[in-house]
Amino acid sequence: MSAILYTNCQVVTLTDGVNSYGLIENGIIVAQAERILWVGDAINTPDKYLAFERVDLGGHLVTPSFIDCHTHLVFAGNRAEEFEMRLEGVSYADIAKKGGGIISTVNATRAASDETLLSQSLKRLDALIAEGVAVIEIKSGYGLTIDHEIRMLRIARKLGEKRNVKIVTTWLAAHALPPEYAGRADAYIDEVVIEGLSRAVQEDLVDAVDGFCETIGFSPRQIEKLFLVAQSFGLPVKLHAEQLSDQKGALLAARYNGLSADHLEYLQPDDVEIFAASGTVAVLLPGAFYTLKETKLPPMGALRKYGVDLALATDCNPGSSPISSILTIMNMAAIEFGMTPLEALLGVTRCGAKALGLSDDYGTIEAGKILDLAVWDVSHPAQLTNWMGGNPFVQRIKQGT
Ligand code: NIG
Ligand code: FE
Repeated sequence: MSAILYTNCQVVTLTDGVNSYGLIENGIIVAQAERILWVGDAINTPDKYLAFERVDLGGHLVTPSFIDCHTHLVFAGNRAEEFEMRLEGVSYADIAKKGGGIISTVNATRAASDETLLSQSLKRLDALIAEGVAVIEIKSGYGLTIDHEIRMLRIARKLGEKRNVKIVTTWLAAHALPPEYAGRADAYIDEVVIEGLSRAVQEDLVDAVDGFCETIGFSPRQIEKLFLVAQSFGLPVKLHAEQLSDQKGALLAARYNGLSADHLEYLQPDDVEIFAASGTVAVLLPGAFYTLKETKLPPMGALRKYGVDLALATDCNPGSSPISSILTIMNMAAIEFGMTPLEALLGVTRCGAKALGLSDDYGTIEAGKILDLAVWDVSHPAQLTNWMGGNPFVQRIKQGT
């Protein structure tokens, strides 16, 4: 069985709670097959590993491969014209109410062939991979018929096979109400969202269930109906919550032991204590905050006070967060939300892994985890958050790559 000793690197283990990078200056990582066997300081390397094949990492910094735990990466077309409208003062919600927004991407996505959808999405995926991302959550939500939603998840899975990255698929049929169901949201939930979920589950295409709980999305009552069905399938839930208004979506996700509640700008500080008790991760999406010129910040003080795990993601989508750069997201999180470079790094590694239910395999560098690492040409981990533009990513380390 292949056993390798990675030498001459600074290892950012991220195993030391929330106050330290867990840095090992002259580090060694020992791997056997697809797992990490041992991590530590070179001078403490157990003799039994010294004969393993060696790979010199040139003194570079090594982190876990990055995790983008919230994306809408599979879609066709673009929304640059809406961007122009928004710059002239029309709001995101008003564009959505007039049939633009998510629905305009639904039309483009439905009209695109599988090949077009795949090739357009692959470009975005490659941009993420080029910045050290190796685990990516991808949601459906631009199909809004059973067949089109299932097609999105199938294409998401295919992307992962093409690039040998880990894809986590999320059923987000409850993203927007398609025009054919105007005024019949409850029927849409039953006939497409729930009916389609059971078909997608039969086809083994679903890792988690999500919804858009918002005045321009679905009500907490409709979302709860979906969550009950998800629960009956043994699937974890998560929710787009408190992005534009306070619907108590985060508390709903917490009640269902959700993996995460995402966005959270309008989460009330008073609700954070109860939210925190569930262990549900807060996924912060500074790209959407930035693009929508939001001014209301997530309740950072309360989230920190109650020890909520903070993940960060691109929210890669053509409307509210047209970005496929995880490094830029880390910088935005620091500048907009006041996250420290350590919090930003944890947000795209350990906390991102927790938000996807993958903590046993990903997110830190320690014995037992899957060997999936990112090598960076930087001398301090804070540089990853500090710099904008350019790309210090050197290579990915994974068995067989
Ligand atoms: O996470 N909030 C809903 N969904 C996306 C926006 C998708 C779109 O605008 O196309 C979001 O921001
Ligand atoms: Fe989103």
